[in-house]
Amino acid sequence: MVRYVLLLLTVAFLYVPVAESSECLLCHSAMQGKMEGRKGVVEVHVDAKRVVDSVHGVLGCTDCHFSYGSGPHSAAAAVPVEVAKLAKKVAVKGTSDPVALSACVQCHPAEYEALTGSVHGENVLRKKQADGPLCLDCHGSPHYIVPETDAESEVNHANVVHTCGKCHGDERLAEKYGLDGHVVEMYESSFHGKKFLLGHTKVPVCSDCHGAHGITRWDAPDSTVIGEGKVKTCGKCHTGATPKFAAAPAHAHVGKDNPIPYYSAKGLTALVIGTFLFIFMHVLLDMYAEVRDRLSRKKKGGH
Ligand code: HEC
Ligand code: HEC
Ligand code: HEC
Ligand code: HEC
Ligand code: HEC
Ligand code: HEC
Ligand code: HEC
Repeated sequence: MVRYVLLLLTVAFLYVPVAESSECLLCHSAMQGKMEGRKGVVEVHVDAKRVVDSVHGVLGCTDCHFSYGSGPHSAAAAVPVEVAKLAKKVAVKGTSDPVALSACVQCHPAEYEALTGSVHGENVLRKKQADGPLCLDCHGSPHYIVPETDAESEVNHANVVHTCGKCHGDERLAEKYGLDGHVVEMYESSFHGKKFLLGHTKVPVCSDCHGAHGITRWDAPDSTVIGEGKVKTCGKCHTGATPKFAAAPAHAHVGKDNPIPYYSAKGLTALVIGTFLFIFMHVLLDMYAEVRDRLSRKKKGGH
């Protein structure tokens, strides 16, 4: 009997992360549900076991939540300068602690830097919008991140289409940014996508063609989905891919891959602009004629 109690105690001890985290967890693993935080409603429960099982299991809570002194949220602690600066820039995305949201840069500088320069990072850092993804939009809860190879991971090959699709199937975002809102359906009806839906694990998902952290606009010079970049992308799996091979439609939507709708869209714009120019010229000429007539009438009247 005593042996079992000792064994249980040992197991329990192993599950308590570092001492400092256990202080936070004293409250945060016991509390349940949502509460009003500084900026809005927050989830106060943190599952201690899932934290320990995550890739960050060895970290203390304040390795990310720098501004929280250990124990209850009393003493404010020093925040590294780099993290504090970034926290200001990404504040628009934070729901509770933008400092923690920026802490990732200390241990994952390459990913953070790539994201900052991407079309997504630009949306948040430069345009100050909360629509583009930062780390958590693609990796899920900061406390329970598991390795990419784990089926539960949001960025596991099988889950990427859903992860990108949360936003890229959203009509509101499509309209706001002039994006094609049907890329997911288009992908799913492509030859790759059909096999993906059947459970094929070698076909490309969104991030195999677009990348993960450094995603550019599709028509940017350093894009992985046009020109040389595209040939290289296809070549990752189709050895010896040529520009001719790469011309096969990837997820045929309005794009250079799909010349007819692309140029007919361009053509439509030209038509609209042309019509307006025509009306504008017409009005101008009309005004000119009017002025000229009045002037000549005046001249005649003066004699
Ligand atoms: C005495 C209990 C207690 C302890 C200990 C505690 N917390 Fe909290 N925490 C709370 C409560 C209650 C809330 C929700 C209300 C609020 O934000 O103050 C909360 C909210 C938070 C939030 C969301 C903040 C917001 O305003 O949106 C973070 C982040 C947080 N705690 C981190 C920590 C960290 C890190 C530690 C350890 C250094 C810690 N907590 C220790 C009780 C505690
Ligand atoms: C790997 C970094 C990291 C670690 C380690 C970490 N957190 Fe967090 N935590 C975050 C991030 C990022 C957020 C979200 C901040 C935001 O959106 O503003 C967050 C949010 C929270 C929140 C608010 C939840 C909400 O709904 O926004 C609480 C409470 C919290 N953490 C407690 C803890 C506790 C307790 C620990 C230690 C067991 C811990 N955190 C460890 C990164 C971390
Ligand atoms: C104090 C250092 C530290 C901080 C801060 C930190 N991480 Fe990590 N992270 C690690 C370590 C260590 C690993 C494990 C690396 C390994 O197993 O190869 C890791 C692994 C990861 C992984 C990899 C999962 C995989 O597929 O293997 C992701 C994703 C990740 N972290 C995201 C984040 C995010 C998001 C933040 C900020 C909220 C963050 N990390 C903050 C140290 C950190
Ligand atoms: C647009 C979605 C997206 C965003 C935003 C994102 N990631 Fe990732 N991340 C991925 C995908 C997908 C993978 C899987 C590996 C791959 O395809 O490169 C990944 C893999 C990783 C890995 C594991 C790398 C490896 O080679 O094992 C780390 C670490 C990581 N991300 C950290 C971060 C951090 C830190 C942030 C925020 C600065 C972030 N990610 C933002 C999609 C994203
Ligand atoms: C949190 C929402 C969100 C998630 C998740 C997300 N994106 Fe985006 N994405 C956006 C927004 C918003 C824009 C437009 C940004 C702008 O124009 O300021 C965008 C732009 C893009 C563009 C550029 C479109 C163009 O005009 O050429 C590509 C490509 C892209 N995302 C691919 C991806 C891929 C691949 C993933 C998954 C690995 C992903 N996105 C995940 C919101 C998201
Ligand atoms: C991550 C790997 C990967 C990438 C990247 C990739 N493909 Fe594929 N592709 C596959 C697999 C796997 C199949 C299915 C082969 C099968 O069923 O035997 C496939 C099938 C095809 C087919 C159907 C005919 C055939 O050869 O089976 C075409 C056409 C094709 N891909 C074109 C492309 C183009 C164009 C690109 C670049 C835009 C590309 N692929 C990028 C892995 C990839
Ligand atoms: C086989 C490679 C490949 C895969 C897989 C792929 N794409 Fe694309 N994507 C492209 C190419 C090539 C373009 C350039 C335009 C075109 O083909 O019409 C593009 C264009 C885009 C654009 C810009 C279109 C616009 O007008 O707004 C977005 C956004 C996008 N893809 C998102 C995604 C998402 C989300 C997924 C996953 C569901 C995905 N892509 C899967 C190759 C791929």
